[in-house]
Amino acid sequence: PMEQLAAQIENYKKEVLAFTPQNAEEVEQFRIKYLGSKGLVKNLMAEMKNVPAEQKREAGQLLNEFKTLVENHFESFSSLQQNNHHSTQQIDITLPGNDIAIGSLHPLSIVRNKIIQIFQRLGFAVAEGPEIEDDWHNFGAMNLPEDHPARDMQDTFYINQNPAWLLRTHTSSVQARVMEQQKPPIRVICPGRVYRNETISARAHCFFHQVEGLYVDENVSFADLKQTLYFFVQEMFGHGTKIRFRPSYFPFTEPSAEMDISCLICGGKGCNVCKHTGWVEILGSGMVHPKVLENFNIDSNKYTGFAFGMGMERICQLKYRVNDLRLYSQNDVRFLQQFTAAL
Ligand code: PHE
Repeated sequence: PMEQLAAQIENYKKEVLAFTPQNAEEVEQFRIKYLGSKGLVKNLMAEMKNVPAEQKREAGQLLNEFKTLVENHFESFSSLQQNNHHSTQQIDITLPGNDIAIGSLHPLSIVRNKIIQIFQRLGFAVAEGPEIEDDWHNFGAMNLPEDHPARDMQDTFYINQNPAWLLRTHTSSVQARVMEQQKPPIRVICPGRVYRNETISARAHCFFHQVEGLYVDENVSFADLKQTLYFFVQEMFGHGTKIRFRPSYFPFTEPSAEMDISCLICGGKGCNVCKHTGWVEILGSGMVHPKVLENFNIDSNKYTGFAFGMGMERICQLKYRVNDLRLYSQNDVRFLQQFTAAL
């Protein structure tokens, strides 16, 4: 009987191991067949009484092993059963996985990173400052007279709780903070968000982003300004992009100039983007006003400097043909997804 029992168990083992149920019903049938009250395991246990006393130990061991095998096997099906109500087939590891949604950089981040990279190659460091500023850093230090229209409530957001504070209207305030802390040579660019009290439309927004640059040292000339910005334009928009300067006015620079680039859309022939002039304005610039330098105890007889400031949205508009400023802050994924490959 012992040999018979061992052989029987061996056969059942094979059967159990080969068994792969297709559905819940088959799992239940398996349970009844092997583990039920009239099941095979019970029957085999009953055989024990026919086994001679000296072989009972060995037989008991075989039986227990078999019982554990059946139970473990059943357990593995039922856990599959819980995960998947329709099928207990083994998981097909060759199936392709689900896509993971991967985000992309915001177009303004892409543009900011590019601008930083270009100026870093010329030795400019990156400086940042607070978005909530005081009148001195935003206006006074920048040589804006007390009655300058930019200071008007119509143009500037003041903080209700403390009207001495305002939301910076340009990143020139960061230049002020840099000159407060450092002595020449100074070579920084200041990227950041700025605020102006404008009605929101396709062409204007109450906040946007600027990058300003400041270079103060001995013998800094207008030629340095031109060559620096020329280099920037070639790197940003492609070699062959032309630049031109037009005289302008800013309280913090003298002389001042606005810079245009040849229209990227029509190549200078004239189109809607350049209003048929062939040129588009991208920045303001000039030689730092001696009064601004003196505001920070920088000797304007010894040192000169240039400064420039541009709107990142404008650069982005020209580079990626974005024609509505509101798109930048609406966070519509249909817009954002278009820049996944633009890194
Ligand atoms: N601060 C100016 C603006 O916001 C830009 C500028 C910066 C012009 C530096 C000249 C020099 O429009």
